[in-house]
Amino acid sequence: MSKAANRLLQSLVAATCVALGVSSHAADMTRDNGSLVGDNQNSQTAGPNGPALLQDSQLIEKLQRFDRERIPERVVHARGTGAFGEFVPTTDISDLTKAEVFTPGTKTPVFVRFSTVMGYRGSPEQARDPRGFAIKFYTAQGNWDLVGINWPIFFIRDAIKFPDFVHANKPSAVTGVQDPNLAFDFFAHTPEATNMLTHLYTDEGMPDSYRHMDGFGVHAFKLVNAQGQVHYVKFHFRSEQGVHGIRPQNIPGSIGADWNLMTNDLYGALKAGNDPKWDLYVQVLTPEDLGKFDFDALDDTKIWTGVPERKIGTLTLNRVPDNYFETTEESAFAPSRMVPGIEPSEDRMLQGRLFSYADTQMYRLGANFNDLPINRPRVPVVNNNQDGAMNSGDRKGEVNYEPSTLGEIPQDPRYKYVQTPLAGTTQQAAIHKTLNFRQAGEYYRTLSEQEKEDLVTALSSDLSRVTNDTNKYTMLSYFFKADTDYGARLAKATHADLSRVRSLADKLAEN
Ligand code: HEM
Repeated sequence: MSKAANRLLQSLVAATCVALGVSSHAADMTRDNGSLVGDNQNSQTAGPNGPALLQDSQLIEKLQRFDRERIPERVVHARGTGAFGEFVPTTDISDLTKAEVFTPGTKTPVFVRFSTVMGYRGSPEQARDPRGFAIKFYTAQGNWDLVGINWPIFFIRDAIKFPDFVHANKPSAVTGVQDPNLAFDFFAHTPEATNMLTHLYTDEGMPDSYRHMDGFGVHAFKLVNAQGQVHYVKFHFRSEQGVHGIRPQNIPGSIGADWNLMTNDLYGALKAGNDPKWDLYVQVLTPEDLGKFDFDALDDTKIWTGVPERKIGTLTLNRVPDNYFETTEESAFAPSRMVPGIEPSEDRMLQGRLFSYADTQMYRLGANFNDLPINRPRVPVVNNNQDGAMNSGDRKGEVNYEPSTLGEIPQDPRYKYVQTPLAGTTQQAAIHKTLNFRQAGEYYRTLSEQEKEDLVTALSSDLSRVTNDTNKYTMLSYFFKADTDYGARLAKATHADLSRVRSLADKLAEN
């Protein structure tokens, strides 16, 4: 805001305060209780040489507030950048869903947070890492969070492995430095990660800008229409700016030049009025279609190959938030936050995520994190949840239970969850159709010669640092199994014995 506009605002506030009969000193510094501060530069002391006084409430309050400025950073995706924008649907998909966010003509405000995964909050934005692409849609039916990344797949397929995956990939518990020995120790026991690792080590693993990457919901979700019919869908946001990554030889320069390259690029574009856009596409399957693949269609390490994409809308970012902490840091996204017409699939990773996000947010931000302005739905919240630390939900009335004849809150049966047919007994068993390597090979073969070279350069550089021979050869056998040319090039680049790689790959169950 310009100085002139600020002065105008202050005089308007002052005039309003006079009209309301309260005094206003909008221009003057106050304490947190609103009382005026006379001197913010000199503490009260006992004479010229004496100690500071306990009665100096401004000094004490200022230090107390400063001492409490930090909250726990996110356990993953700590380094992030947020922006406001809007989502506009372009196609009627009422055949698929009753969710009003998809009704053509509806404009839904959004907040998007991009992030790296493994680094600390202040870490460089250039890192070989997936990028978070989390979207909060403030819909007329409540908030819908789509908490995705820049690829359509993930490393693992069962939520029970997630803490181990993160521990192995985060900075070491001893040195505080990321270590490929630990990461590949985990991945050597995780053949399903071969597809995602292949994506990670291409140039796309180092996007040159948040604007130059796609976004994917990764999991299958259920869309439910007004008749209760279910379709399984995947959400794909395709960048209108194109997808660009940084080649391995240019990485040191880009990190040296600007640690905050991604934020500076995004905010620079937004401030210049160069608003980035992504087109939203869905892939759609009927419940009967799910079984028709030779992989498990609810396995998030797999792409739904051969399923056409249908364009349904456009996401535009158009505004840099005014306050980093109150938006980017305090924003809380959760895959469990859905609206009627959008429901979770039975994907085992998604099922774990449905629990984990709100749980960590109650720890990171407190039980009433949904009352924070960035998280608050733009529709009234009407239920009997109450109290807790820092509550400001403004709940009214003493009937805070139900059933009740005194103040029952109505519920509309049209919004009940859809019924899902089940079979079998409870169990603890891996999925049957694992197909761990084939899609990695298919993806490798779509790459240009330069992209293949860059992939081998980047991946072999980390694999060469793996000192445990068993882990190194196991990893090489996975890539060889995916594609023999891919595996052979990596073996050469890491000075490995190709016949040993081949014989290990031959023992792997499937291609
Ligand atoms: C079971 C597996 C997973 C678990 C338990 C898990 C857990 C978490 C947790 C605890 C956070 C921090 C949230 C916060 O502090 O607000 C987080 C952030 C995030 N996760 Fe996951 N995650 C899992 C898998 C995934 C997958 C598969 C994706 C991609 C599709 C993903 C994308 C993200 C993103 C984008 C964020 C950052 C959200 C933001 O910007 O605030 N996660 N995850």
